[in-house]
Amino acid sequence: MRTSILTVCLVAALTAAAGCSRDAAPAADSAKPAATPEAKVSDTAVAAADRDEHSYAQPDLVRIDDLALELKVDFAAKTLSGSATYTLDWTDPKAVQLVLDTRELKIEQVFGEAADGKWQELKFALADADKTLGSKLTIEAPQRNKRIRVAYATSPNASGLQWLEPSMTEGKKLPFMFSQSQQIHARSWVPLQDTPSVRFTYTAHVTGPKDAMVLMSADNDPKAARDGDYSFKMPQKIPSYLLAIAAGDLVFQPISNRSGVWAEPAMVKKAATEFADTEKMTETTEKLYGPYRWERYDILVLPPSFPYGGMENPRLTFATPTVIVGDKSLVSLVAHELAHSWSGNLVTFSSSKDGWLNEGFTSYVENRIVEALYGKERADMENVIGRNELAAEFKTIDPKLQALALKPGTLKDPDDASSATVYTKGAWFLQFLEQRYGRDVFDPFLRGYFDHFAFQSIPTEKFVEYAKANLLAKHPGKVSEAELDEWIYGPGIPKSAPATVSPRFDAVDAARKAWVDGGKLPDAAATAKWSTQEWVHFVEGMPEKLSVDQLKALDAAYKFTGTPNGEIAQRWYPLAVRSGYHAADAAIAAFLQKIGRRKLIMPTYEELVKTPEGLKLAEDTFAKAKPGYHPITTGSVEAAIAKAKAAPAAPAGQ
Ligand code: BES
Ligand code: ZN
Repeated sequence: MRTSILTVCLVAALTAAAGCSRDAAPAADSAKPAATPEAKVSDTAVAAADRDEHSYAQPDLVRIDDLALELKVDFAAKTLSGSATYTLDWTDPKAVQLVLDTRELKIEQVFGEAADGKWQELKFALADADKTLGSKLTIEAPQRNKRIRVAYATSPNASGLQWLEPSMTEGKKLPFMFSQSQQIHARSWVPLQDTPSVRFTYTAHVTGPKDAMVLMSADNDPKAARDGDYSFKMPQKIPSYLLAIAAGDLVFQPISNRSGVWAEPAMVKKAATEFADTEKMTETTEKLYGPYRWERYDILVLPPSFPYGGMENPRLTFATPTVIVGDKSLVSLVAHELAHSWSGNLVTFSSSKDGWLNEGFTSYVENRIVEALYGKERADMENVIGRNELAAEFKTIDPKLQALALKPGTLKDPDDASSATVYTKGAWFLQFLEQRYGRDVFDPFLRGYFDHFAFQSIPTEKFVEYAKANLLAKHPGKVSEAELDEWIYGPGIPKSAPATVSPRFDAVDAARKAWVDGGKLPDAAATAKWSTQEWVHFVEGMPEKLSVDQLKALDAAYKFTGTPNGEIAQRWYPLAVRSGYHAADAAIAAFLQKIGRRKLIMPTYEELVKTPEGLKLAEDTFAKAKPGYHPITTGSVEAAIAKAKAAPAAPAGQ
């Protein structure tokens, strides 16, 4: 199911605190890139499009090739401390400074390795913090050292880390910590060139308490001894936002030879059952787009405070436990994060303004996987849910944010991007190309694109250039350049967009109408077969408000209040709040305290803050929930409350 990071991102953007190469390094097993005639785009045009306005780094002067981390996990102090050593490629002969991104880091010392192998201290300056971008760290390196080392420690408030007390975990015995680096939070736990245009290999030596298992976006060993001393290697070049770490009471359960689940002991079996189709998903994607190039694909199930649904950390997807609902109905999340192994992790956007190259392509591939495994009806229902959300969003957002490729300066904070545009319009555009060319042509084209740009970071212009040469020119008369431009650079959805019909949703629409108009509940034999998607559509299509009696009747029949399914809760509770249905208040408070996934809880907070009584419930609940929330979620909720307080709330009933 496609999701809305949008609303939460737009709200988060109000608090700047909340936050979103062309090395051509072949993978060990990389397939040979297809020979491609390239229509020339001027180098200056690509260089300008490639510029990342959300990083202080100067990768056209010097680039990090490899990162070696030496870190200690300190749960009591809530810090990571140690050092980061960079192997550098000084590309500009005049460059004598290394500029890095940092946020709230304590920089202790900086060293450079001299030609004789000795390490000497280097001068550095840490600039005042910018609210969105953090502090620029400038290191003076007159000798253009091949290796530079920064000794540092993180702040307990690092925006990219969450530290959980034992009471906030499933097992309640050991503390837990995890990172979330995308978009620009890696800089809060490692000083880096924090831009997706720079790719590097990494190693890490991490120490921590003996009873904590440490995992990274690297070569995790399912059989690793839990001894407080761990070493990692990521031999494939990745961008900084894919750097990830987690530590806690984590155990492993295999799904297949190359896949398995890491989770707290109480959760691992359930998770492995829910995600049992992972291997089939990988095989399906490989058939379409070529080999999975990252060796293992494991899933780490995080505590419910994880602020996102999933994060495609290479070799180790981070996932919310809220998709484990017992019937595999929400596993499109795994399809999505797995798909990023091609779209995003292999071929990466070079800056946030090209977010659709990651998320739009991934949402397209996700839908293909869902179709292959669970059938076209399910894939279509998921498409319709996404497109309804997109239509709603286009009514409110700035047309500038409705383009797939954004112009420089459009995004102040990279977390401000419209997710419905990036995800759903992006996927829709590829569905449009698929429809015009047919799968016989489009599937090999996409596979060729992934091979051609494998392990590179590119701007939209590179895709356009590739598509013009390999699709438009080779198969003339199907899609015009003007159509391509309209999709990529224009607002809204072009008229050429293929429509999706869903007979199963038509039946839900009819059932809802019969109930709203005549009070007749849908046929129990039909609803018994409804999936999460149908329930979501049923609730989502309700009138703006219902009467308390109507809500009571629905609850009596379907027990929406207190539902363990977060996707249904995300739609039901705002409707309950809008309709003044206070019987749900206690369940709302419990839901908001238990779950930290922004997409699921923000719609309810946003509805609550609209009235004085709702605002009170929101504030009281937030006060209790806050210690367990991730900094990103805290930022979003604080922004929603602050916004409501700035604009006086409407009295109840208006
Ligand atoms: N890469 C994203 C998560 C992300 C995007 C984090 C932008 C920070 C900034 C991830 O792949 C994703 O899209 N997650 C979705 C779930 C998915 C099924 C649509 C989410 O978290 O809702
Ligand atoms: Zn994604």
